[in-house]
Amino acid sequence: MHHLLSAADLSREEALSIIDLAEEMSEVQTREVKKLPVLRGRTVVNLFFEDSTRTRSSFEIAGKWLSADVINVSAKGSSVSKGESLRDTVRTLSAMGVDALVIRHMASGAPAQAARWTQASVVNAGDGTHEHPTQSLLDAFTMRRHFRAVTGDPQADWTGRTVVIVGDVTHSRVARSNVLLLRTLGARVVLVAPPTQMPSGVDSWPCEATDDLDAALAEADVAMMLRVQKERMHGGYFPTAREYTVGYGLTRDRLAALRPDAAIFHPGPMNRGLEISPDAADAASSRVLDQVAAGVAVRMSVLYHLLGGGSTAPLGPTTTSAEADRKGPTA
Ligand code: CP
Repeated sequence: MHHLLSAADLSREEALSIIDLAEEMSEVQTREVKKLPVLRGRTVVNLFFEDSTRTRSSFEIAGKWLSADVINVSAKGSSVSKGESLRDTVRTLSAMGVDALVIRHMASGAPAQAARWTQASVVNAGDGTHEHPTQSLLDAFTMRRHFRAVTGDPQADWTGRTVVIVGDVTHSRVARSNVLLLRTLGARVVLVAPPTQMPSGVDSWPCEATDDLDAALAEADVAMMLRVQKERMHGGYFPTAREYTVGYGLTRDRLAALRPDAAIFHPGPMNRGLEISPDAADAASSRVLDQVAAGVAVRMSVLYHLLGGGSTAPLGPTTTSAEADRKGPTA
């Protein structure tokens, strides 16, 4: 695997390899000294043309915990603001010898285009309304943990589980990547959206689609609420915020109607009171912060798969910087 551009590029074996290694990587989060020497000498650039809290900081933490050098470049404060093109920006950073470019861009397809201009590995960190593959991997990771916790079965996975994804599907790269990955992993995916926010052509997607939220939620093992993306909407998708909440929000009443073992997901950032009520966001069954924590472990695993030269990493005891200097690179 040289790039990660789309969840569709991942075979079941590749996805499982990333998720399984993320389970091992997550152990590092519990250590006092959070450092593995496996990417020493490798350089990762976070190239973000759109705002981000979770994705950018978790890629930065992931790279640093793997001992890579991590540099953050954002459109604001770089020569992009002087008019430099994506192509020239990518080629400029490549000429410096970087090993991976983690790219978020407002244009769908920008990371795939960038991958043609560089020898470095490219990770799609969210491109327009197209895809967000690492979000779907961290969601799948968090779901599997939830299924294992509620069943007590350490082998439980996505097979036969129903994941209901609700909201602004037309503008959601999270929904697209989750549909692709969860089908690969064996889940049943049901998309719920107002007719104006369900993409044309959804019939050809590997999932079901409906506008009946309450019927879908009654079958949900996971209820994933999507953010209403005000910045990508240009009028007319729903009459008022209140009507959206009544029709498609995870309200207090809908929270009470969920199955007791159902989990609530949201990729963040949340519009509390719009697509998700504060009660649902903070419910015991909310896995929102687990998703955030999983983001670091999954992105460690992705960076290791791209740059570490193998599909599994032997995680030894915590290594201090001084010990790492003595030992040298291990991968
Ligand atoms: N889920 C997600 O991509 O969040 P950020 O925009 O904060 O990175």
